[in-house]
Amino acid sequence: MSVASGEPEAAVRERDGRVVWVTGGGSGVGRAVALSAAAAGWSVAVSGRRPGPLEEVAAEVAGAGGDALALTLDVQDVDAVAAARRAVVERFGRLDALVLAAGLNTPRRRWDDQDVREVHDVIATNLSAPVTVVDAALPDLRRTGGVVVVVSSIAAWRPSPGAGVAYSASKTALGALVRTLNEQEAPHGVRACHLCPGDIATDFLDQRPQVPDAAARAVMLTPADVAGTVQFVLDAPAHVRVDELVVSPVVRG
Ligand SMILES: NC(=O)c1ccc[n+]([C@@H]2O[C@H](COP(=O)([O-])OP(=O)(O)OC[C@H]3O[C@@H](n4cnc5c(N)ncnc54)[C@H](OP(=O)(O)O)[C@@H]3O)[C@@H](O)[C@H]2O)c1
Repeated sequence: MSVASGEPEAAVRERDGRVVWVTGGGSGVGRAVALSAAAAGWSVAVSGRRPGPLEEVAAEVAGAGGDALALTLDVQDVDAVAAARRAVVERFGRLDALVLAAGLNTPRRRWDDQDVREVHDVIATNLSAPVTVVDAALPDLRRTGGVVVVVSSIAAWRPSPGAGVAYSASKTALGALVRTLNEQEAPHGVRACHLCPGDIATDFLDQRPQVPDAAARAVMLTPADVAGTVQFVLDAPAHVRVDELVVSPVVRG
């Protein structure tokens, strides 16, 4: 543990004891957030459906001297989310932050080619699941004056026709989710951020009807770029709320 100059050691100890749960923590942005938070002294829980990537992230955190818990779950499953929340608190004794990075899109995303079951799946993953996780964790977040970073999309901030019907609608609604959380939970010290990134070079792009090539990906944001903005929000002092952040690559691929 390093003590920054001028910072009381007790404050650093307090910060280093903090715990973040990252949904979608096995890959892309979620993975980068987990590694960044662990490097900053946070204990980390990562969740997703595939155990392999989660175990790899947990091992990487442990290898660097951090503490991580891998939780295999479908974030649409309300009971599994409740069980995961219990597992986090049992393991670490507290929960200080959520980073909600689990997300879904589909190549068939226009009114003229969509499958309504896929539409429901996208909305359940991108919108209903964040509600489920925040609802489950709220008592813990109230105790700690916790932070919620909702990884939304630039499609929630400006019209993005290519993003599709279900994705645009579900991500746009996350802005309202964050605003209501901030309005109602501020008296308990809970703070939420609607994070709206532009294109990020991750496997998520494979869900596009036209999958971007390596040259297009090379000018996009990296998962580490986005993790840097998330870390800024996580590390903000308890009296500071970052309501919304938009981060874009300078060049559009
Ligand atoms: N890439 C971009 O250009 C971009 C731009 C703006 C915003 N975003 C947002 O960034 C977030 C992270 O995406 P990414 O780019 O890092 O892509 P990614 O690597 O594909 O991450 C998506 C994550 O969501 C998890 N997930 C999906 N459905 C799930 C479910 N039902 N239950 C549990 N976990 C589930 C996946 O894990 P499992 O498959 O193991 O479940 C995966 O780890 C998403 O919310 C996405 O909408 C991405």
